Amino acid sequence: MPRLVAIVPAIALALVLAAGLAACAPRAESPSATATAPKAGFDWASWTPPSLDSIPDDSLGRSIRRGQALLAHTTDSLPGYAHSNLQCTSCHLNNGLEDKAAPLTGTFARFPKYMARTGAVITVEDRVNYCFTRSLAGSRLANNSKEMTDIVNYLAYLSKGIPVGTKAKVDGLLGMPNKLTGDPSRGEAIFKEKCAVCHGPDGQGVAVNPALWGPKSFSVGASMTREERAASFIWHNMPLGQGGTLTEQQAFDVASFIVRQPRPDSPGKEKDWPTGGAPYDVPYATQGHAPYVTPTLLPRRYPAYSVVPQPPRAPATPGGP
Ligand code: HEC
Ligand code: HEC
Repeated sequence: MPRLVAIVPAIALALVLAAGLAACAPRAESPSATATAPKAGFDWASWTPPSLDSIPDDSLGRSIRRGQALLAHTTDSLPGYAHSNLQCTSCHLNNGLEDKAAPLTGTFARFPKYMARTGAVITVEDRVNYCFTRSLAGSRLANNSKEMTDIVNYLAYLSKGIPVGTKAKVDGLLGMPNKLTGDPSRGEAIFKEKCAVCHGPDGQGVAVNPALWGPKSFSVGASMTREERAASFIWHNMPLGQGGTLTEQQAFDVASFIVRQPRPDSPGKEKDWPTGGAPYDVPYATQGHAPYVTPTLLPRRYPAYSVVPQPPRAPATPGGP
């Protein structure tokens, strides 16, 4: 039986190799353990976001850097697509690394994802375009453009070491500890006292300080136009560098003032939450939902590009009808 004789040493060798590999492998066998453990979750506490200083100096690294620059200098880099005076990082503070400001760490790992507002599973490119068209009141990028690829590569970099499907550490903006109702006239006084110095007396933004309302601000279809979401962003982060200094009531008050001001429209918004269930403070009518407030809506420069279309079905034959 020479065949068997040959196989036995091969198995033995394989066993020795496997044992050797196991011995060399870092102690943490946890990646597979956590991946298979039911709902054990990802240990966010021991994850450090990748440093922007260690982006590799190769072709992919250059794309990641361009993506980061597009997020931080959106209006200068893409003037044809960003029509407000907001950058992506006006809200996603510290290059998307700030946990209190809708962090982008781990985003790439959790897409494609179901989005209740759209009522569909969407790709990360579409999610980026929802922020382009709504939060930035801009125009959507082609999903296969170089710029979109750069942005997605940057998002992928911010998900380094995070397994696919990991739940977000923070899903969007943190919730407010208490759901209060804002008073817009008190909010106007707070705005004048604590915000106008940077955001301008008319809220239209000055130099690097972005607009809070008006034609250069975020559109009505942005999450930031919801009183509770705006209160959360403001309470945690504003005045800039002094997050946490307003009372919760003051944050709701100033948010309630801001969400009532005029801002760009968001065409197609009535189709949001197609199966119902819109949050209480959405400022426009959707399925089964009456608007919470009714700000004056300003026209969009390129209405057709202010909407993220549902993906078309592939034609029955390539190039076919
Ligand atoms: C006016 C504020 C604002 C601006 C400007 C903005 N965003 Fe957002 N973005 C948000 C908020 C708030 C969320 C979380 C949405 C929610 O509440 O569910 C979000 C969510 C996202 C997500 C999904 C994150 C996740 O893990 O689910 C991506 C990706 C994103 N933004 C990318 C961008 C990009 C790229 C730009 C610039 C083109 C941008 N955003 C500009 C406020 C903004
Ligand atoms: C010291 C200047 C400063 C003050 C004071 C300040 N902000 Fe801001 N705010 C900024 C800057 C700058 C950004 C954009 C973030 C960045 O570029 O780092 C911003 C971003 C924002 C945003 C998200 C982007 C946008 O334009 O919608 C909101 C909302 C906001 N501020 C509200 C407020 C409110 C409300 C107050 C008063 C309670 C306030 N800010 C006070 C400088 C300031």
